[in-house]
Amino acid sequence: MAKPITLLLALFLMGGLYAVFSPADRSAADGNVNSQIVQGKELFQVSCATCHGLGAEGTSAAPSLVGVGAAAVDFQVGTGRMPMAKPGAQGPRGKTEFTPAEISALAAYVASLGAGPGIPTSQQVSTNNLTAEEIARGGELFRTNCSACHNYEGDGGALPNGKYAPSLGQTTASHIYEAVRTGPYAMPVFSSGTLTDQDVREIIGYLQTLHSTPNNGGFSLGGIGPVSEGLWGWIVGIGGLVMVATWLARKGARAR
Ligand code: HEC
Ligand code: HEC
Repeated sequence: MAKPITLLLALFLMGGLYAVFSPADRSAADGNVNSQIVQGKELFQVSCATCHGLGAEGTSAAPSLVGVGAAAVDFQVGTGRMPMAKPGAQGPRGKTEFTPAEISALAAYVASLGAGPGIPTSQQVSTNNLTAEEIARGGELFRTNCSACHNYEGDGGALPNGKYAPSLGQTTASHIYEAVRTGPYAMPVFSSGTLTDQDVREIIGYLQTLHSTPNNGGFSLGGIGPVSEGLWGWIVGIGGLVMVATWLARKGARAR
């Protein structure tokens, strides 16, 4: 009898927590956006305007940001590429100089200048419920569209004229999405007509499986992927289950 009651209590608790943490109402959100844009504009004029121009209209040193969208700013500033230290060269990945709130403000300001790709929601880049088939499809999409520059396992590689495609090992899911949609520097833009949001999610899922199985030295199983790893999983996993089953059966027999 105790179990159903605890279950009910847990459900009530979840409902209550949801009510407390669910998003605030719209009008409050709109007010936030306006003050964000004002704050973003101030930050922009201090840190970005020397190259991109006072109204982000572009100068001979840097392109216009009208219409690049919040996604481009979140990517460029969030990965520490902007503000650029040395104009002309490829902006390297680095530590960002801004807090997440400041990045949102800069992004809101640039987005207010012209429509462009937005920052993805957490659902758009969530890989939690991807099936194994979808992740395998992500691998295929990656090999078709990305590996020419980023290498088969996303390790990156050199491009002509001293440019390079970086390794994707430390990139967050949102930054991957944003890079795909905004095409930073020498990377092409992949619009939703070329790669749907679902396609991008599958690519992110594939990249995460590559990096969630780090090679910490030791026995690498030849690194040829699912075949040998699956085989070992099979032998060790099923072998273990058989041993446990035999042990249980013997114990049961003795007890009788
Ligand atoms: C020293 C000059 C310089 C400064 C300062 C600078 N940028 Fe840039 N920015 C560039 C150049 C050059 C490019 C184009 C080359 C590239 O994308 O790497 C660029 C590209 C960008 C892009 C990509 C545009 C696109 O088409 O996708 C964004 C977004 C951006 N900058 C935002 C910012 C923001 C926000 C700041 C301030 C925090 C900033 N930049 C500061 C020089 C600069
Ligand atoms: C033509 C070559 C090329 C192709 C194809 C390409 N990229 Fe890129 N990618 C680049 C370059 C160059 C950069 C570096 C941009 C910079 O320095 O601003 C980059 C940067 C990135 C980054 C940012 C990495 C980081 O952590 O800073 C991600 C993520 C990314 N690419 C993902 C992809 C995905 C996913 C695809 C396939 C859908 C793809 N790229 C296809 C050239 C390419």
